[in-house]
Amino acid sequence: MENDVILSLQDISFGYSNQTVLENVNLDIKTGEFIGIVGLNGSGKSTLLKLILGVNKPTNGKIIKNDNVTVGYVNQTTITEEGGFPATIFEVVSLGLKKKPFSHLTKNDKELVLKTLEIFNLKKLKNKSMSTLSGGQAQKVKIAKVLVSNPDIIVLDEPTSGIDAESEEMLIEMINHLHAMKKTIIFVSHNPDNLKGCDKIYKVIDKGVVSYA
Ligand SMILES: Nc1ncnc2c1ncn2[C@@H]1O[C@H](COP(=O)(O)OP(=O)(O)OP(=O)(O)O)[C@@H](O)[C@H]1O
Ligand SMILES: [Mg+2]
Repeated sequence: MENDVILSLQDISFGYSNQTVLENVNLDIKTGEFIGIVGLNGSGKSTLLKLILGVNKPTNGKIIKNDNVTVGYVNQTTITEEGGFPATIFEVVSLGLKKKPFSHLTKNDKELVLKTLEIFNLKKLKNKSMSTLSGGQAQKVKIAKVLVSNPDIIVLDEPTSGIDAESEEMLIEMINHLHAMKKTIIFVSHNPDNLKGCDKIYKVIDKGVVSYA
């Protein structure tokens, strides 16, 4: 693997029971690259991300990733799956620091969580329980929880669904800021405006991944 390649998909194929979704996919992602992924509904974008994350195991080919690389993932669902979880927004986001649940947080940890909440305009909700949030607010908490741990690779699957235009713009601004800080970002979006800052855009089509203008 080349030095600056952080993640390499080599001749990957994958399918669910009787359906092949991806075939002979080759994709190298370099450290610091901001990659956009587009494609029609059902083309295999989320499936591709789950291969990158190691949730799906390829039926053929291999994925090369340094064991020390940390990956943060915001999934596609807008369902507030943490809605029934008896925790405040502050607590949920602090769980993103991957400390033991509700263990003692250092002053630095607390400041980091508060700073992240501030970025997402969630600070004033910090003591509210997840079950009281709107869908868009809960989505922002999910993203904040991932970003607070400062992962090496950030994988975002349609993170802006259910988010208002202003918050979406802010999130895109933040992603572009993370890109400027040399973070590696893989971002699935149906909105071309969200992908303007990308170094490369790939399209998932006909079970393959092609470079896309
Ligand atoms: N867990 C699963 N079990 C079986 N089939 C699945 C599963 N997840 C996805 N599929 C199928 O794999 C194909 C690709 O799905 P995937 O979710 O990767 O598409 P996508 O490009 O992310 O679509 P969307 O734009 O709607 O999010 C679809 O035909 C889908 O029905
Ligand atoms: Mg999807």
